[in-house]
Amino acid sequence: MKSQFLVFGKLIVILSLAALLAPVSLASAAGPAFESSLVCGGCHEATHRNWNASLHALSFTNPIFQTAYQKAYTETGGEAKKYCLRCHAPTVQVTGDYDAKLAITREGVTCDFCHTIVSVDLKNREKPFVSEPGKVKRSVLKDATSPHHQTKYSADFASSKLCAGCHAFDNRHGVSVGNTYNEWLGSPYAKEGKQCQSCHMKEIPGATANEGGRNTIHDHSLSHNIASMNDAVVVTIKQFQRTSDRLGVKVMVTNDRAGHSIPTGTPERRLVLEVRSHDASGAVLEVHKREYHKTIVDADGNVVSSDGDVFLNGVKIVSDNRLGPKESREESVVFSQKTGRIDSVSADVYFSYQALVTGKTEMRIPVFNTRTKTTQ
Ligand code: HEC
Ligand code: HEC
Ligand code: HEC
Ligand code: HEC
Ligand code: HEC
Repeated sequence: MKSQFLVFGKLIVILSLAALLAPVSLASAAGPAFESSLVCGGCHEATHRNWNASLHALSFTNPIFQTAYQKAYTETGGEAKKYCLRCHAPTVQVTGDYDAKLAITREGVTCDFCHTIVSVDLKNREKPFVSEPGKVKRSVLKDATSPHHQTKYSADFASSKLCAGCHAFDNRHGVSVGNTYNEWLGSPYAKEGKQCQSCHMKEIPGATANEGGRNTIHDHSLSHNIASMNDAVVVTIKQFQRTSDRLGVKVMVTNDRAGHSIPTGTPERRLVLEVRSHDASGAVLEVHKREYHKTIVDADGNVVSSDGDVFLNGVKIVSDNRLGPKESREESVVFSQKTGRIDSVSADVYFSYQALVTGKTEMRIPVFNTRTKTTQ
């Protein structure tokens, strides 16, 4: 990845000059252009509505990406566009529109990019997909006919490989900053043959096409989906010791339902466990916290704490205590009884994102909560 950046340093200058001189539609002269999701949505209304709510649809325009991208762009004198956009606006791989002048670029991970993928080669880390925009749209239906395009069955669409091209990434120093695919490869789910799609693109009611379609679609709303996160982590509390001044509990935290580590993806994500003691009225007496995350440092040993820095400046993973797929971790927590008589203990698990938009903003997404009465 490092060499890619260095090599592109020179290339970019030439390319961006060419872009200034040439008309914007340079790419379409070379072959058929990608079609807008709005065209697809004319017939695939249910899927379009579904995708429109996904982070794939927002992968270029969302303010969290834009903030990090602008920082990376400035710090690298523009080189970052070659690196970031190949996943966040993947049509640029074919159109060469690295300055985002075409509307299709701003559609992010759009219908026609995925559905014209003809092959996936994960060994080619910089360009794993070959996407050939044109009349043939591929996916998992074996006998589909459409008035607008040709169709072709492709087994890749039912495989994690299709996701891996973007959901496994090293930064420019070769540090594995996000590697959902490899976490999954080593999991029991991969051995059972359960792919990313088995959990993230379930069959839901809806017409594949307004006319002549069937009545279930695969869910395209890939995002921070609260429903899929609920109970992804399960927590149980066991009391183990009570003395006149202390109460000890054991808390078991299990990654019950994610096919990869929790949290996965960019290291900005933290999973937080909060264990609290309460008195008989329910008031909180004491709080203990545990955090599960991956910590990456820069060349000076400082923790890098924004997505942009992680991609640009992270040189080493110094710790990683995330919960692996199906892993259970036991945490011991000791409460003092001096703060008041403990009547119950509760635990919450939530995701905390320190997203950098204009300043740091914390977002919390609840995952699990439980409360148990203590015994005398
Ligand atoms: C004029 C209507 C129409 C338009 C526009 C249209 N499609 Fe389709 N498409 C269909 C119909 C009908 C089917 C067949 C559905 C079925 O058999 O259940 C289909 C099937 C598909 C399939 C399944 C292919 C397979 O073999 O698995 C894909 C993928 C697809 N379309 C993608 C797209 C994309 C991407 C666009 C926009 C670039 C698009 N379609 C635009 C009508 C349309
Ligand atoms: C062309 C690249 C690309 C492909 C292929 C791709 N993704 Fe993504 N995906 C992204 C990007 C980029 C984002 C982040 C969007 C953002 O938040 O800015 C994302 C976001 C997501 C999210 C939401 C993550 C979150 O932070 O909540 C899920 C879930 C997801 N993808 C699953 C999948 C699955 C499953 C597949 C395979 C069927 C897949 N993706 C294929 C690029 C891709
Ligand atoms: C990240 C890549 C990706 C994007 C973006 C994407 N799809 Fe799909 N699509 C898939 C995959 C993967 C499947 C098969 C899922 C499975 O087998 O579990 C699929 C299946 C389909 C099918 C076959 C019917 C079905 O639901 O299984 C149609 C039609 C379709 N997509 C249309 C669209 C349209 C229209 C858009 C944009 C509004 C879109 N897709 C965006 C990856 C994508
Ligand atoms: C056994 C089911 C299962 C499988 C298989 C699975 N996932 Fe997940 N995934 C989940 C659950 C549950 C969550 C929510 C918990 C979390 O965010 O870690 C999740 C979360 C995610 C997120 C982060 C969403 C967020 O908001 O933080 C991404 C990205 C993702 N999965 C991508 C993938 C990819 C890519 C694959 C295949 C390589 C995959 N998943 C395989 C169940 C699964
Ligand atoms: C190999 C593909 C890939 C490359 C290259 C890549 N990203 Fe991402 N990025 C993703 C995926 C996939 C996600 C969402 C899921 C996750 O966290 O794994 C994501 C998530 C993000 C997020 C979090 C967005 C949110 O909605 O929370 C930011 C910010 C981000 N990327 C910025 C960048 C920047 C800046 C660059 C270039 C320096 C870059 N990315 C390069 C694939 C990529």
